[in-house]
Amino acid sequence: MRKKVTFVGAGNTGGAMAQMMAARGYADVVLIDIVEGLPQGKGLDIAESAPWTGFSTTVTGTNKWEDTANSDVVVITSGVARRPGMTREDLLGTNAGIVRSVVTNAVTHSPDAVLIIFANPMDAMCHVALTASGFPKERVIGQGGMLDSARYRAFIAMETGASVKDVCAWVLGGHTEATMVPIVSNATVGGVPLSMLLTQAKIDEVVARTKRGGAEIVDLLKTGSAFIAPAAATIEMVDAVLLDEQRILPCATLLDGQWGVTGGYVGAPLLVGAGGIQKVYAPPLADNEVEAIREAGKAVLELVAATPK
Ligand code: LAC
Repeated sequence: MRKKVTFVGAGNTGGAMAQMMAARGYADVVLIDIVEGLPQGKGLDIAESAPWTGFSTTVTGTNKWEDTANSDVVVITSGVARRPGMTREDLLGTNAGIVRSVVTNAVTHSPDAVLIIFANPMDAMCHVALTASGFPKERVIGQGGMLDSARYRAFIAMETGASVKDVCAWVLGGHTEATMVPIVSNATVGGVPLSMLLTQAKIDEVVARTKRGGAEIVDLLKTGSAFIAPAAATIEMVDAVLLDEQRILPCATLLDGQWGVTGGYVGAPLLVGAGGIQKVYAPPLADNEVEAIREAGKAVLELVAATPK
């Protein structure tokens, strides 16, 4: 039987994810939203691209949870996006209610799914999803570090002139401007330490731009937030689960003592394959990076405490 992936939320992000997933050609795609016509319209448009894109899988746009039944992966993109001047944290109350409700519906119909959480503030929404789903933590994964690392790698490639393919650099910590931790100590390009390729001033610039990466796009678009890089980052995680790729990817998980952080969703290198997270790694990092990750752990627990029940 073919694999099945549901994208909850048919906004720009859900739409882009559905399109990228459909183009992979190995899994049926469902796009669900509360707004009537929106998922159907986007789903049909993607399905009609199949003859030229060349996939034989199905794409279904729907308002009915029954159509999502038995999905292998469910990606939660629902919620409102940031407008200029807003932080991801500003979305807390509104999006917590939405995420709680869609996760409850999603897991009723797909009790064995892996949940990938994209809605913002992503770290806090992982906690909401974990509680609402009742799933083991291995099956509730936060997406933030994937996107932030994509931006970090892209900026390093732009500054060094080297291919982004050779940039191995990760953002751990949280998915807010204050808690993101672009890791410099083990960043390399083709095995060459970043510190040999860029001056400290340039590295500082790249780190600062990475932290503001989401806001830079919001400022440019003015009416919404990024969706292409977010979609690409998420589909890479879906592939890891559905194809049991055993990737080591920077995603958020409930830490259990790593770097001294316990009980908060924070980014770490995770071994991801069939069924979700197989292992959590806590590689050695510079002292200031470990300290920043600990601060991210504290910050997410504060957001969790402030989340309306
Ligand atoms: C961003 C939002 C989607 O970083 O979290 O662009």
